[in-house]
Amino acid sequence: LPDPDVAALTGGDVDDLLPRPGDESDKYRRGVLGVAAGSDEFTGAAVLAVGGALRAGAGLVRYAGPAAPVAQVRARWPEAVITELDRPSLDGVGRVQAWVLGPGLGTGDWSHELAARVLASDVPVLIDADGLTLVARDRSLLRRSAPVLITPHAGELARLIRADRDDIEAARLEHSRRAAAELGVTVLLKGSTTVVAEDSRPVRVNTTGTSWLATGGTGDVLSGVAGALLAQGLSCYDAASCGAYVHGLAGRLAAGGAPLAAADVAEAVPAAIRALRADS
Ligand code: APR
Ligand code: MG
Repeated sequence: LPDPDVAALTGGDVDDLLPRPGDESDKYRRGVLGVAAGSDEFTGAAVLAVGGALRAGAGLVRYAGPAAPVAQVRARWPEAVITELDRPSLDGVGRVQAWVLGPGLGTGDWSHELAARVLASDVPVLIDADGLTLVARDRSLLRRSAPVLITPHAGELARLIRADRDDIEAARLEHSRRAAAELGVTVLLKGSTTVVAEDSRPVRVNTTGTSWLATGGTGDVLSGVAGALLAQGLSCYDAASCGAYVHGLAGRLAAGGAPLAAADVAEAVPAAIRALRADS
């Protein structure tokens, strides 16, 4: 591949791209996001992804998962509409405009089956964490016509494209572009800077973050934020780059030069959106 064009988004660009509710808006028209995340082993990732989504302007968040994460999500987020799954099926879950798939989901047969159901839908899907492990093992899951946004860190991308993690770290733009072309998806590669790549678009690089974000669970919050933007109708490319911008800024505000917990980043998302609006 030739040297990619590189573009950075400004706060003003993000402000222009972020949806605002109109006078005629209702919760369904503002965007309904489905979150398929969490397992009896890992419950926190589901709580964090739902929190990121609620704070990033989804009209409604539908959460679907097994009993243990359902109890946690229900306790933390009364705003979410929850379906407890006793089998890996989405039959009881209402209509959504986009899905977040994977944080804390687990990688066994149950999780694979649920991932297959989510990816069989006709709406955009953001795949993260365990969802990426499942897809790395069974790439046929990616055969769908609706858009896919993947949000790996370098280790997850390495497994997906069968490359070496150090090689990816050494050439993040090139590997992101290669993965986007090879897999036919939009790629958001996380790290100290975040790279968004999509076939025949300039690579977008985001540097709003802070190294305080290097703590467990902040990636799950990002999934919720970018997923909410997808549900609100942004393309994968715009949802990924605006999501990274807002998440990075939220991290910076939450940290203020001191440690943060992932939940604090979700909490700071509205303040980040306010701040970028004030700046532009
Ligand atoms: N500077 C700025 N941002 C950073 C830095 C840094 N030095 N380090 C990390 N970040 C940001 C990333 O860009 C990303 O937004 O913090 C977030 C970390 O996300 P993940 O790598 O997904 O980490 P985490 O949320 O802990 O993942 C949870 O999912 O990916 C799996 O195996 C992982 O079990 C873990 C779980
Ligand atoms: Mg992660």
